Amino acid sequence: MTAPSSLAGRVYVVTGGTRGIGAAIAQGLLDVGARVCVLARDPDPGDGEQTLGVPVDLAEPATVAAAFDRVVAAWGRIDGLVNNAGISKVGPTLEYDLADFARILDVNVTGLFACSQAAARVMAKQGGGSIVSIASMTSFTGQPQRAAYIASKSAVLGLTRALANDWGPLGIRVNAVAPGYIRTDLTGDLIERGVLDVDAIAARAPLGRFGQPADVVGAVLFLLSDQAGYTTGQAIVVDGGWTVNGYFK
Ligand code: NAI
Repeated sequence: MTAPSSLAGRVYVVTGGTRGIGAAIAQGLLDVGARVCVLARDPDPGDGEQTLGVPVDLAEPATVAAAFDRVVAAWGRIDGLVNNAGISKVGPTLEYDLADFARILDVNVTGLFACSQAAARVMAKQGGGSIVSIASMTSFTGQPQRAAYIASKSAVLGLTRALANDWGPLGIRVNAVAPGYIRTDLTGDLIERGVLDVDAIAARAPLGRFGQPADVVGAVLFLLSDQAGYTTGQAIVVDGGWTVNGYFK
């Protein structure tokens, strides 16, 4: 992949960057010479010139503020934030536990907002920055038994548009990437339990395969980069064409 050159040397924060899509994004940023801070519940402690691991629980706002303070103390600036961390729970809606519903909204929406706000406060002082949030193709579609997740991922798009308005005048762009089915722990668990059928999903996607974490990286790097300098409040769908296939037989 030809990566946008404007990312080299800059400082990026990736939430939930320890595995799955977040780890692929963190690696993609390292590969183009950026410095990457991974914020996660259990980050790799192996800090180096290009990497920093800071513990955070997105459900605990105090840990979010402390984490961003630590990034600024270490590296003095934040050029970009990737709001990647997210959780889901599939279950029958009539019996869905309200505590589970609230937890998903806490992490995927309130936690994401807390990270965006903490990063934007730093970016505003620097004169700008770029925020990319990982939404989902379910931000645009419904699916059975995922009410909390879909509500949260729809809210991610709403926040993307709202914050693009509020922070555009500060030089901060806010965009989203909406993946389709990507092979990670999140989907692996559903595949193992027979909730997802990999072959059927691959067959329905016009591009004919299940997605991999690396498939999401290019869109994120583009939106972080100066090449997307006049783009804000938008979402790029990375789903192998799943959401544009309206065929049924
Ligand atoms: P994953 O389960 O493999 O990784 C999630 C990451 O988020 C982990 O690093 C985890 O530690 C972190 N995390 C979870 N709760 C946290 C909390 N309270 N505080 C801090 N970190 C926390 O998930 P995956 O599949 O890599 O998903 C990443 C993002 O992409 C999520 O927002 C997910 O909703 C979204 N997504 C995933 C799709 C897929 O098919 N895998 C499709 C569409 C969107």
